[in-house]
Amino acid sequence: MASERSALFIFFGGTGDLAYRKLYPSLFNLYQKGTLREKFAVVGTARDKLTDEKFRERVQKSIGSDSKEAEKFISHFYYEAHDVTDKAHYSVLKERAVELDKKYKLQGNQIFYLSMAPNFFGTVAGYLRSEGLVNDKGFSRLVIEKPFGRDYDSAKALNEALAQSFDEEQIFRIDHYLGKEMIQNIEALRFGNTIIESLWNNRYIDNIQVTLSEKLGVEERASYYDKSGALRDMVQNHIMQIVSLLAMEQPVAFTDSDIRAEKVKALRSLRVYNVAEAATNFVRGQYDAGGKINPYREEDNVPADSNTETFVAGKLMFDNYRWSGTPFYIRTGKVLADKFTRVDVVFKKPLVDIFSFPGSSTSKPLDTNVLTLYIEPKAGFALKINAKNNDQGFQTAPVTMEYFVDPEDSKKTPEPYERLLHDALKGDGTNFSSWQEVSYAWKFVDQIRKVWDLQQPNFPNYTPGSMGPAAADELIERDHRQWVYRLNK
Ligand code: NDP
Ligand code: BG6
Repeated sequence: MASERSALFIFFGGTGDLAYRKLYPSLFNLYQKGTLREKFAVVGTARDKLTDEKFRERVQKSIGSDSKEAEKFISHFYYEAHDVTDKAHYSVLKERAVELDKKYKLQGNQIFYLSMAPNFFGTVAGYLRSEGLVNDKGFSRLVIEKPFGRDYDSAKALNEALAQSFDEEQIFRIDHYLGKEMIQNIEALRFGNTIIESLWNNRYIDNIQVTLSEKLGVEERASYYDKSGALRDMVQNHIMQIVSLLAMEQPVAFTDSDIRAEKVKALRSLRVYNVAEAATNFVRGQYDAGGKINPYREEDNVPADSNTETFVAGKLMFDNYRWSGTPFYIRTGKVLADKFTRVDVVFKKPLVDIFSFPGSSTSKPLDTNVLTLYIEPKAGFALKINAKNNDQGFQTAPVTMEYFVDPEDSKKTPEPYERLLHDALKGDGTNFSSWQEVSYAWKFVDQIRKVWDLQQPNFPNYTPGSMGPAAADELIERDHRQWVYRLNK
């Protein structure tokens, strides 16, 4: 059993999709594992008028269990009808908080989780402070959902609003990719293995490719997505976080402040493109019709002339000693061939290929070594190396050494939200985005957006089930390289 933690959770947007689908089931997992036991309480808030009983019924449905344990778990749940813009409501909430703190011996520990539209984040944080909900008895932490702004200026304004009420160490900005097992494994693989870390630089690595491929379209989230697009929705946050973990130097120690310091340093050396560079190094796409899928422009809540991108591919360059000259190629999109996330690290070939015999019709040039990190759905990694094939004579052929997490063990792997809620309870900010990381990521992305906003795209330009527009292949082929993951390969 894990060691028990005590806290009051107040969920703003407590009746939303995310709360029911991810947050309450994750809390239940923490309960079953003993991190939460007796000393916790949950208050769900939203404008809807629900009784505690009705709310508990819904929570029970969301965790999908009516066991005795589930009954005990939901007995810790309470509901408060609350409009976050109404200052007066915060005193009612405070009374509830004080009462529950006493009842469950919570020692003043509080987690305020903002699972609602981001335009409310500043308001809620301000009232939590001004109406005295933030106390000095235990800890008071603010967990906030994405998106954190829609560009650098709005993110900065939001951050300044939050900073008036909470210190940076109290703010936990969620990026659920940081809660994924194999993303966390990047650090273990790099800094736990001399054979990997000693080669992890521009001398041995030719290029790194990061692919976040989605099979689904925008589903019922089009009204949000159409104002965001893939660059803001996936690149500014998830991809920039993955890239910074791949690019950073070894932290002095495995602590949140040391890791964040290195990620920030890496992001600072990311080349921020000028107009011409942004236009050359990034491509965008929007899906057309294909099979049973409608064109993006015909999805519900999408304007017929929408220029929102549902696909992005790009080339990133770090101007530092470790990475100068080694590009990081990234791509992500909706309705692509499959749902998966992977990182392909492509090593340089030996400088001299002594196995390629001039004039021989059978000898083949050496293949490149590739280390692939499979993030999802399968979790593991594979290393492609060259070896002698079994035939008479001397020819090389690529062979793959691989490790995959046993699917049975995978089922026991905590969901990202479970890990992140656990970390927030412990006060460990390692797997949350710091303001500095967010700000450098926006500064980079804003340059791409600026160029795109000035140019009319030629949309739609890719077919569902493909790996995006032809321009994404041309982007990398121009550098005499190829995506490691290609269709029909
Ligand atoms: P929903 O629209 O499903 O839920 C919004 C919640 O906010 C509801 O509980 C709603 O209840 C409440 N709410 C709205 N206005 C007010 C108000 N004025 N006062 C008090 N409560 C209010 O959103 P999601 O759960 O989908 O998303 C929540 C956050 O999580 C967003 O920031 C989103 O970007 C982020 N997110 C969501 C993901 C998902 O898969 N759903 C994935 C990643 C991030 P009521 O209307 O009754 O007040
Ligand atoms: C979210 C994006 O942050 O990540 C969604 O808003 C996207 O558009 C989702 O579908 C992908 O997450 P995952 O964990 O399914 O790869």
